Amino acid sequence: MTPNIHPSRLILDELTTAIMVVDAEHRILSLNHAAEELFRVSARQVHGQELEQAIRATDIFSELINTACTSGGSYTQRERRVNISDQRMVTIDCTVTPLEGERVLIEIAEVDRHTRITKEHNLVVQNRAIAELLRGLAHEVKNPLGGLRGAAQLLEAELSDNELREYTQVIISEADRLKNLVDTLLGPKNPTSPEIVNVHEVLERVRALVDAEGIEGEAGVVMSPVPIVRDYDPSIPLLYVERDHLIQALLNLVRNARQSAGPQGNIILRTRTQRQMTIADKVHRLVARIDVEDDGPGIPVEQQEQIFFPMVTSRAEGSGLGLPIAQNLVSRMGGLIEFTSEPGCTVFTIWLPMETDHE
Ligand SMILES: Nc1ncnc2c1ncn2[C@@H]1O[C@H](COP(=O)(O)OP(=O)(O)OP(=O)(O)O)[C@@H](O)[C@H]1O
Ligand SMILES: [Mg+2]
Repeated sequence: MTPNIHPSRLILDELTTAIMVVDAEHRILSLNHAAEELFRVSARQVHGQELEQAIRATDIFSELINTACTSGGSYTQRERRVNISDQRMVTIDCTVTPLEGERVLIEIAEVDRHTRITKEHNLVVQNRAIAELLRGLAHEVKNPLGGLRGAAQLLEAELSDNELREYTQVIISEADRLKNLVDTLLGPKNPTSPEIVNVHEVLERVRALVDAEGIEGEAGVVMSPVPIVRDYDPSIPLLYVERDHLIQALLNLVRNARQSAGPQGNIILRTRTQRQMTIADKVHRLVARIDVEDDGPGIPVEQQEQIFFPMVTSRAEGSGLGLPIAQNLVSRMGGLIEFTSEPGCTVFTIWLPMETDHE
C-alpha cells in the first residue's frame, strides 16, 4: 500500500519518542510521526526548512546540536522545560547524536508523558474509588428520604395552624434538595448508548448554551459574557460515544471556565487529534483531544490535587460536583480529563479514544 516508504521508516513512525534528522545547516531531513505530533507540524511541509524557522522552541536544539558537534559524540540533556506548540509547556529529555555526512540525529522523549501516565493511573484508581463510595452513600441516603417526605406531607395535612406548616415545608423542601443532590451523585438514570457523534456539533451546542447564560459580574450585575472562541481541527474523525454524557461533561468544564474567567474573560474551545496515547494503561492509536482553555486566575497549586474530589469547591454557591461528575462520565467512555493551570491560562483537556471497542 505504501511502496515508497522504507520499512524502517514505518517502525520509526510507531515510536513514541520524537525523532528528527537535520543537516549541517540545521535543515530538516526527516521527522517521524511522534515529532510531527509534538511540534504540530507536517513532515512534508517542514522538509528542507531550517529547524529554527520550522518549529518553535528551537533554541535548545540549536544549542544541543552545537554542543554535540563540538564534542563529536552523543549529548543528552534531561528535564528541560520548553514551550513547544499550542502554548503547551512540556518537559523533555533530548539526545543529540552527530551522524555520518554531517547529519545530526535528535531524539526527544516527553518526560511529562511518563509522569502523566503515573499521575493519570492514580487519577483513574482514585476516580473509581470515589464513584463506588458515592454510589453506596447515595443509596443509603435516598432510601429513607421518600418516607421522610411522605410523613411530613401527612403531618402537614393534619395541621390546622399555618405557622406550624412552615416547619413541615422546611422538611419537605430539604428532603427534595437532598434527593436532587443524591440523584446527581448517582449519575444519569437511563444508561444511554454510544452513537456516532460529530464533536464540533456537540461543542457548538455547549458554546451556544453557555454563551446564552448571563453571568454575574461586579456588584452582582448580570452581564452577557465575551463570546467563546473556537479553534477546531476540521479533520477530526467522528466519535462513537454517549452524546448526552459528552455534552454534560463539557458543560461542566465550560461553566467552570466561565465562572473562573468572569464575563470579560476569554474562553477557547480547541479540538485536535493525537496519535499513540495511553489512557488508563491502554495504548490508543488515535485519540481526540478537546481543550477548554480560560484566562482566569487559575487553580491554586495547593488545591490542584483535590479538585476532582466531590464537594471540593471554592465558590460559595458551588456544590463541588461538576468535575467529579464530568470525570466519571468521560471515564465511562474510556477517556480521561486532565488539566494544567497557571494564572492566566487554565486548560482542561478531555481525551477520548477514537476506537469503538471501549468499555
Ligand atoms: N477553569 C477553572 N479555573 C479555576 N478554578 C477552577 C476551574 N475549574 C474548576 N476550578 C476549581 O475547582 C473547583 C471544583 O470545581 P467543580 O466544577 O467540581 O465544582 P464547582 O464549580 O465549585 O461547583 P458545581 O458543582 O456547581 O460545578 C471549583 O470550585 C474551582 O475552585
Ligand atoms: Mg463547576
